[in-house]
Amino acid sequence: MSDDPLPPSSPTPAPGRPTVRTAAVIPAAGRGVRLGPGAPKALRALGGTPMLVHAVRAMADSRAVSLVVVVAPPDGAGEVKSLLDTHALPERTDVLVVPGGESRQQSVKLGLDALPEGYDIVLVHDAARPLVPVDTVDAVIEAVRDGAPAVVPALPLADTVKQVEPAATPGEPEPVVATPDRSRLRAVQTPQGFDRATLVRAHETVTDDVTDDASMVEQLGLTVVTVPGHEEAFKVTRPLDLVLAEAVLARRRLNDGF
Ligand code: C5P
Repeated sequence: MSDDPLPPSSPTPAPGRPTVRTAAVIPAAGRGVRLGPGAPKALRALGGTPMLVHAVRAMADSRAVSLVVVVAPPDGAGEVKSLLDTHALPERTDVLVVPGGESRQQSVKLGLDALPEGYDIVLVHDAARPLVPVDTVDAVIEAVRDGAPAVVPALPLADTVKQVEPAATPGEPEPVVATPDRSRLRAVQTPQGFDRATLVRAHETVTDDVTDDASMVEQLGLTVVTVPGHEEAFKVTRPLDLVLAEAVLARRRLNDGF
């Protein structure tokens, strides 16, 4: 279990620190085509429980998170709501479900639009990263509380990365144009944490297609910082990732003594 390094989001502030409420937005509206045919990715089961439920629990496990906004497939908000109603979640955490959009970026924006007043820190967490440990979630929140406008969990890369000139036809050889210094590269995960006003401004200002929210804050000219990521926060993207996720769950069950 976690050491619970953060004060709970109670109305009583810790000495010297004002109460700052944290909400998590979970974009879960993707189809997950790379995972193969079947239900939308977030609704696929892991250890018998939908991936999305794992992701909501991973956010709710942090005592600092008092609201989770789930962004459902545009035509599936009702189904997602009933699904969440049938799974136990901590009582201290409120859950809202809103319909998502065409892109991840639009889905996050719709989640942000649904946030009530009173939440000054926002986490954005992919439903596709169901197994992120609570210590990683807390480390992100802590860094935002310490004053960073945007925080990403990051890991060094195992593979060397090449920049290529993409081939017109998939599978054709692609010329390599550069090899960035691996020691300066990081693979970033979620939850990414933000000062709410900064993230809202980023979503109002940046219109380019992006693959994560922190890069929108970078485009505002602000500094994004990293905290250590975790290997269990990997994104379930391809069929092999499902096998790995099941193995991580099995190991946790063994360690928890079930
Ligand atoms: O496609 P990708 O793996 O980058 O998706 C990351 C997350 O964004 C997933 O949790 C997915 O459900 C979500 N997403 C979304 N709305 C979309 C596309 C993706 O909420 N239109």
